[in-house]
Amino acid sequence: MRRKLAAGNWKMNGLKGQLAELDKLAAAHPSPEVDVLLCPPATLLAAAALQSPFSIGAQDCHANDAGAHTGDISAQMIKDAGGKAVIVGHSERREDHDEHSDIVRAKARAAQAAGLTAIVCMGESLLEREAQNTLDIIGGQLAGSIPDNATAENLVVAYEPIWAIGTGLVPSLAQIGEVHAFIRARLERRFGAGVGLGVRILYGGSVKPDNARDIFAVPNVDGALVGGASLKAADFSPIISALEAS
Ligand code: 13P
Repeated sequence: MRRKLAAGNWKMNGLKGQLAELDKLAAAHPSPEVDVLLCPPATLLAAAALQSPFSIGAQDCHANDAGAHTGDISAQMIKDAGGKAVIVGHSERREDHDEHSDIVRAKARAAQAAGLTAIVCMGESLLEREAQNTLDIIGGQLAGSIPDNATAENLVVAYEPIWAIGTGLVPSLAQIGEVHAFIRARLERRFGAGVGLGVRILYGGSVKPDNARDIFAVPNVDGALVGGASLKAADFSPIISALEAS
């Protein structure tokens, strides 16, 4: 009932030439059985949306519609450029830009108001995991970062343990399953079964062609938010295929 989603986050990578990877990906997946979303840097957003058959999203937005916020882009601008979604609350933004959950929630609300799907990220640090605080941290980020008007269409949750991002380290399948089940239960409790069971929950953090299949078999994992392995069609394509087969 939940359509699977393979999402790629290019982060601060990619000049114009990088768009060729979208063509290669489209050639390999002319009619994918899962949703495919690519989030290039803002400079490539409009060109990617024109060129690609896949959905295109952004990596961040401002909480306001417009105004004196040099360097920021609004959710409406992303929509205007052809975007369908925006990542908010990525740990790199929470850390680099000191973004707390109240800002993330305001950004998610702005995204939803503009007609975009907000992909709200959350995850614990290694210290927090080692102190066995993971579920407390996730519970707090969930409660704080997700707006009240969430629906199965305008919200995707991404669980990305900070220590697994770009490190090659991946939680055990049991650890992934525990956090995803916890997020699912919290969503159901807050929004009811309709929305709670409909929202997709992605896993992110060192997803690669060789571990995707196992991760996608974990209950409540509805897809992945992929960083490094989304940059090359040769790496992202087998991840899409693994999700189709799951
Ligand atoms: P990696 O797949 O490179 O670990 O990055 C994950 C991520 O942060 C996606 O948003």
